[in-house]
Amino acid sequence: MTAHTQDPVYVTDALISQDIDAYLLKHQHKTMLRFITCGSVDDGKSTLIGRLLYDSKMIFEDQLASLEADSKVSGTQGGEIDFALLVDGLAAEREQGITIDVAYRFFATDKRKFIVADTPGHEQYTRNMVTGASTADLAVILIDARQGVLTQTRRHSYLVNLLGIKNIVLAVNKMDLVDYSAERFYEIVSDYSHFAKQIGMDSFLPIPISGLKGDNIVSRSPEMPWYQGPTLLGHLEEAPVSDTAMQDAPFRMAVQWVNRPHLDFRGFAGQISAGAVHPGDPVRVLPSGKTTTVKSIVTFDGDLHQAVAGQSVTLTFADEIDCSRGDVIVRADAPCEVADQFEATLVWMAEQEMLPGRPYLLKIGTQTVSATITEPKYEVNVNTMEHLASRTLGLNAIGVVNISTDRPVPFEAYADNPDLGGFILIDRMTNATIAAGMLHFALRRSQNIHWQSTDINRDAHAAQKNQRAKVVWFTGLSGSGKSTIANIVERKLHAMGKHTFLLDGDNVRHGLNRDLGFTDADRVENVRRVGEVAKLMTDAGLIVLTAFISPFRSERRMVRDMMAAGEFLEVYVDTPLDVAEARDVKGLYKKARSGQLKNFTGIDSPYEAPEQAELVVNTVALTAEEAADRVIAAILSQG
Ligand code: ADX
Repeated sequence: MTAHTQDPVYVTDALISQDIDAYLLKHQHKTMLRFITCGSVDDGKSTLIGRLLYDSKMIFEDQLASLEADSKVSGTQGGEIDFALLVDGLAAEREQGITIDVAYRFFATDKRKFIVADTPGHEQYTRNMVTGASTADLAVILIDARQGVLTQTRRHSYLVNLLGIKNIVLAVNKMDLVDYSAERFYEIVSDYSHFAKQIGMDSFLPIPISGLKGDNIVSRSPEMPWYQGPTLLGHLEEAPVSDTAMQDAPFRMAVQWVNRPHLDFRGFAGQISAGAVHPGDPVRVLPSGKTTTVKSIVTFDGDLHQAVAGQSVTLTFADEIDCSRGDVIVRADAPCEVADQFEATLVWMAEQEMLPGRPYLLKIGTQTVSATITEPKYEVNVNTMEHLASRTLGLNAIGVVNISTDRPVPFEAYADNPDLGGFILIDRMTNATIAAGMLHFALRRSQNIHWQSTDINRDAHAAQKNQRAKVVWFTGLSGSGKSTIANIVERKLHAMGKHTFLLDGDNVRHGLNRDLGFTDADRVENVRRVGEVAKLMTDAGLIVLTAFISPFRSERRMVRDMMAAGEFLEVYVDTPLDVAEARDVKGLYKKARSGQLKNFTGIDSPYEAPEQAELVVNTVALTAEEAADRVIAAILSQG
């Protein structure tokens, strides 16, 4: 059986065949609540979701057809059987889909439409849970009444709270299996309260239920007269949806695109993430800070007198001011902050570990900027809530870091506005989403440090030396010949009267980078620092030669991006591994092969060969002297 969230066809509402217009109208004006169910593996999640779908009598046509087919085969009929089949089907599907993502299931009642994100309970699927929860208005945390609060319960509650879901239902399930005991229920609620306080959760609503028997799902259970609160579905129908919750905040809208159908019209389209806007309202465009007033609010259905959080609109301005995709339009007298350094929580979602110093793409609001993790602060052990010192984050790990972007971005704390405080990190090479993040606050230092321009700039320095400053970046395996060739190149340039400096891996690791080893994270930091130093030296007008393995494309590209076109020359010293190993000048390959030396490049640590180096020198075909001459020729041809 497959569930579809697209084009659902309702089959149980008689109105659909009698009066299609009335039917559509009825559904069109209902609000939509998105929620997530989470808990541990055997807490009865599929049964509960089955119960909601079943009792709300809104099952998709194909699900029903498939159920009927199944019951024909088994020769059984009747409501209870259909319900059991539905649950089995959901569970089987969940099993099959377990590694892919989140299953979104749709259902509706007379009052409201619902989308429930069904995510697997296992620890290793944190990322799925985060994906499911990121758009949820409410979370149902399921507990097996026999088991009480488990590690998974704590883990999921922590995540749900972290993602800022304010409306939390603690559904104590399988009450039928504990004789509907009020005592047991209150014992669990008290345990959970204690934990909730610990993680800073403001409030939660406990409901005793049985997904299997239907107690307190749609109607009040006769078995639990001691419980006076709402039923689960009753609460789901009444809970506020997030768009309405954001309506009282000051106005914010990230610009998705600039709408310019003809020369006389320029509108800024986007979805309002907070507050309300009216024609005549003074607004400010961030990050520039320019102000104007709203002239009109344009939609497909005509101009509006007001638009509120959740609506997608196009605004026109009274003045021609600069505003483009990624900018945020805010209420003029209540702007949000703009910064380029932040503290944030990250949920790491990729197999490859987080590498501080590596440039990633950061997508926030409607814009994408380049960002690096400048300082990993700690990792959270989500099972015990302990903070662990950590330089990196692995798959499903959650940590707090400082992060820096290459330009200022308008933002709000995630807790105040998830649209302007939530972001994702994307790998620049593979385009994969590798982390979800939540901004906490801006680091003040970014506001207090300004670029100081000096009179004698890099051009003046270079002109005095009668040369063009540049970086000649040698990369290749250990023992490939980088240092040897770079050394000859420097000697020749020196003889030609050029002002040079050679930064060499082994040497730099004796001083500036003596704190760094050979893990991926340390190599990234090694190359980042060398890149910054090389850049400073070019500002002094020098021709800088660097000889580092620099095994990763990402960091070589980062240094390339720091330099102007024609001022970066990547030289790939292409020596096959077996040749470098046979030479083994420092005896390190032998040590690596025997296991005495770990993380050795080419053996148990990767080397990513350049794809577009300006120059490749093959040290099997060329002598070091000949290779050096080719490098000199390349430098001179760049000017
Ligand atoms: S990089 O990968 O971070 O760019 P770098 O060029 O600074 O490396 O240093 C490489 C030099 O360190 C090698 O030439 C070798 O002499 C020495 N070395 C020691 N341990 C290792 C290792 N595990 N992997 C590679 N080189 C190592």
